[in-house]
Amino acid sequence: MDFYDVVKSRRSIRSYKSDAIDREALGRICEAVRWAPSACNIQPWMFRIVLNREIRNNICSVYKGEWLKKAPGIVLALGNRDVAWKRVEGNSIIDVDIGIAMEHLILAAAAEGLSTCWICAFDVKKMGSVTGVLPPWEVLAISPLGKAAQIPDAPKRKPSEEIFKIIE
Ligand SMILES: Cc1cc2nc3c(=O)[nH]c(=O)nc-3n(C[C@H](O)[C@H](O)[C@H](O)COP(=O)(O)O)c2cc1C
Repeated sequence: MDFYDVVKSRRSIRSYKSDAIDREALGRICEAVRWAPSACNIQPWMFRIVLNREIRNNICSVYKGEWLKKAPGIVLALGNRDVAWKRVEGNSIIDVDIGIAMEHLILAAAAEGLSTCWICAFDVKKMGSVTGVLPPWEVLAISPLGKAAQIPDAPKRKPSEEIFKIIE
């Protein structure tokens, strides 16, 4: 698929088929994540692709959306805020780095015909404890991965004029 078609056709999917995830597609998706940029190229991330039913159930006990239970895979994006580059005022850039890598995963999955949905509405400490992720690592975002059962209409976006200003 053309890059712009991928970007425009991707949706947050909250309804999944139980079909297994194609391992070759998964390999290509992981490779796309590996090439994500990060501040000072520190790559302060790890990703877990959870296919195991028991661990997926544990994850679903922390994120309350019932729909997540149907997804055949759940991706965990782990970040280490201590090693990530610090802004001049001292704040870790971890959320930016993880956001970029996760979005590489989400767009690569879309290019492979697989669906995802960013999920951040969970207690980070609880998610770490049910998935065995230990400090300094934190689970900063998760996403289902699998074939969509239902694809919603595109949600509205702000018009370009509200977002962009060309300054010549
Ligand atoms: C950082 C971030 C966190 C999000 N967290 C959640 C979440 O916890 N649960 C959820 O159902 N959707 C979550 N979303 C998905 C957004 O609701 C969705 O991207 C937005 O409504 C636009 O829809 P679209 O992705 O289909 O274009 C999140 C998206 C982002 C970027």
